[in-house]
Amino acid sequence: MLNGKIAVITGANRGIGWATVQKFAQHHACVWACARRQTDAFEKNIKELSGKYATEIYPLYFDVADADAVKKAIKTIGDKQKRIDILVNNAGISVEQLFPMTAIKTIEDCMHTNFMSQVQLAQLVSRYMMRNKAGAIINVASVAGMEAEEGGLAYGSSKAAVLFSTQTMALELGKYGIRVNAVSPGFIDTDMWHARSDALKEKILQETPLKRQGAPEEVANAILFLASDMASFITGQNIVVDGGRKSLSGG
Ligand SMILES: NC(=O)c1ccc[n+]([C@@H]2O[C@H](COP(=O)([O-])OP(=O)(O)OC[C@H]3O[C@@H](n4cnc5c(N)ncnc54)[C@H](OP(=O)(O)O)[C@@H]3O)[C@@H](O)[C@H]2O)c1
Repeated sequence: MLNGKIAVITGANRGIGWATVQKFAQHHACVWACARRQTDAFEKNIKELSGKYATEIYPLYFDVADADAVKKAIKTIGDKQKRIDILVNNAGISVEQLFPMTAIKTIEDCMHTNFMSQVQLAQLVSRYMMRNKAGAIINVASVAGMEAEEGGLAYGSSKAAVLFSTQTMALELGKYGIRVNAVSPGFIDTDMWHARSDALKEKILQETPLKRQGAPEEVANAILFLASDMASFITGQNIVVDGGRKSLSGG
């Protein structure tokens, strides 16, 4: 589905990002797997995956909240590839704290990592896409950005901003053949959930029609679809991957 496409994926070392790298490699994209830190385990995983599917995967290390590092990273990719076809804006952090107790710095960091970095990456990458009059940008948002929840001011606001900006980007970039969509995961089995209480997890399971937690691969499948030509007439949309919790039971 992605044969020969050049894809950039952030937060690629674990969770939904790593599942997306695997999915894209399986579909023969050339993947720039962007992570914050270099580790032997990540380099080894990439080497194995690249060998398994006979496709190119390049690790690239930078902090998405560091604007200068982001610029340098996209230039590195652009200089080597001369084009970028797909951007998956996936890196993110979670904050769960009642708002009177949340330091402004914490809110700023959350907005910066989850939202501003996505905008900067989309700005830089869309310049390459405009030249080709084609491209697909997938912004990973969250069901937390669709409806208010207690303790969700920082994280939910950052993801609501992602959803809003996805629509603006889609409006402005459509004339260049660039599609911009969001994916909003619900309760997905990654490290992001490991610190949360069992009571909260149980409540969410009860509210979920499919009565189970989602797997990172199931989010990666939605990202793959939106990145591929299967979604060639879809832009400005948000695919919710949450086992039906938000849309069906209003949880
Ligand atoms: N899991 C869920 O239930 C769920 C639900 C809704 C939305 N999401 C969204 O899905 C995306 C992926 O989350 P996940 O569940 O896969 O979480 P995860 O396992 O915690 O992974 C988060 C990834 O983002 C990277 N990252 C965070 N801050 C970064 C920074 N400043 N610079 C570069 N990389 C950074 C992390 O890198 P390090 O390893 O260096 O920390 C890691 O690769 C996030 O945007 C998250 O908000 C997840």
